Amino acid sequence: MTRPASATDRRRLLRFMLQSPLLTGAAGLASWWPTGTHALPERAIPDRAAAALDVFQLKRVAQSKLALPVWHFIMNGADDGKTVAANRAAMDLWQIRVRRLIDVSRIDTSLALLGETLDTPIMLAPIGNQLSIHPDGELASARASGKRRNLMMCSTVSSYAIDEIAASANGPVWFQLYASDDEALNRHLLKKAENAGCRAVVLTIDSPTRGNRQGERWFARQMDRATLRLGNFEDYEGRIRFGSSSLTWEFIDWLRNNTAMKILLKGIVTQEDASLSVKHGVDGLIVSNHGGRQEESGRGTLACLPEVVSAAAELPVLIDGGFRRGTDIFKALALGAAAVCIGRPCLWGLGAFGEEGVARVLSLLQAELKRIMQFAGTPTLADISADHVIRA
Ligand SMILES: Cc1cc2nc3c(=O)[nH]c(=O)nc-3n(C[C@H](O)[C@H](O)[C@H](O)COP(=O)(O)O)c2cc1C
Repeated sequence: MTRPASATDRRRLLRFMLQSPLLTGAAGLASWWPTGTHALPERAIPDRAAAALDVFQLKRVAQSKLALPVWHFIMNGADDGKTVAANRAAMDLWQIRVRRLIDVSRIDTSLALLGETLDTPIMLAPIGNQLSIHPDGELASARASGKRRNLMMCSTVSSYAIDEIAASANGPVWFQLYASDDEALNRHLLKKAENAGCRAVVLTIDSPTRGNRQGERWFARQMDRATLRLGNFEDYEGRIRFGSSSLTWEFIDWLRNNTAMKILLKGIVTQEDASLSVKHGVDGLIVSNHGGRQEESGRGTLACLPEVVSAAAELPVLIDGGFRRGTDIFKALALGAAAVCIGRPCLWGLGAFGEEGVARVLSLLQAELKRIMQFAGTPTLADISADHVIRA
C-alpha cells in the first residue's frame, strides 16, 4: 500500500530536483543556485572561500560569477579539448600503494629547490592576464602565495608588472619568459625580473604558435578591453613582440650568457628533449603541455613524466597539467617530480573570492597532500618513492 506523500517527502523531492544536473549543469543557471548546505557537496556553490571543501566547489563559484568570455579564456583547451581531458585521465593511470604502521604524526612537506627553501612543493603556474578575472589580478595571487610561502611563477603577459607582483608576494617568485625575436625586448624582460629579485627564469618552449582555442577565439571580441593590460611592457620603448616561431636550442645558450638567473624549460614532454636540455646546461625542467591549450596531442603530462625523469639526469623535474587533488600531486612526486604547479584551480579561486579564494585553493591542496602522505606512510617528501605507485 502506498502512503500519501508527507511534507518531509515533498521537501526531499524538491531538494532532489534542485540538485539535479538538469538544473545546475546548464551554463548561467549556476548563478541562481542556492548556496550553503542545501546543495549536495558535489553541486554546492559555497558563499565564502573558507566553506569550500575542494577546488571543484571554487570552480563552480567562479563559473557562476565570471562573464562567459573570461570563463572560456580560463577553461579552453586546443581543438576538441582532448589534451585537457588527457591530463586529468593520466592521473588515473596510477594507483597509490600505501604503507602501514609508520609514525606519521608529523608531516613535513619542505624542500630545497634551485636555491629556494620552500615549505611546500605546490607552486603557482605562470598565468597571464589575471586582471580580466579579478581587479587585483596577479597581485591577489601573489599575496595569497606569499603568505603561505608557495612559490609563484609570474607570466611575461601578466597584467601587473613583475616588480609589483614580487612586492605583493614578499616571497619566492620566478619569472616566466616568452622569448621574442627582438633581443632588446628579451634583455628588458630579463632585467626587470632580476631587478624584482627573481632567482629563476622559466622559459616557455611550447608556443611556436598559438593553440587553436576556439572558445577563446569565439568570445575574444567580447573581452572587456579595459582589463587587457601588459604590465611588463609598459616601460619598454620599442615595439611589443612576444613569442617566436624561430626559437631553437641556440636561444638557451644565449639565455645562459645573458642572465645569472637559474633557467628552467617549461613544456618538455619527451626524453629526447630532456636529454638535449641536459646537454645545454639548463637548471630544471617543467613537464607541461600548457594545460592542453597548445597542441592537441592527447597525451597527459603525468604519462610523459617517467620518460622525462629518466633522461633528465640530476635536473629537478617539475610538472603541471590537470592537478586538482593532493593525491594527483602525490603521484607526480612518487614518479620523480620535485614539485607540482597548479594552473586553473588558482584562477577558479581568484574568480571566486580574489586573494582569499587563491589562498583557499593552496591550503586545500596542501591539506590533501598532507593527508595522503599520512595514509601512505611518508612523513617527508624524501620518503615518497616509485614504490608508492603502481600502474593501474
Ligand atoms: C588562462 C591561462 C593562461 C595561461 N597563461 C600562461 C602564460 O602566460 N605563460 C605560460 O607559460 N603558461 C600559461 N598557461 C599555462 C599554465 O602555466 C599551466 O601550464 C597550465 O595551466 C597547467 O594546467 P592546469 O590549468 O590544468 O593546471 C596558462 C594557462 C591558462 C589556463
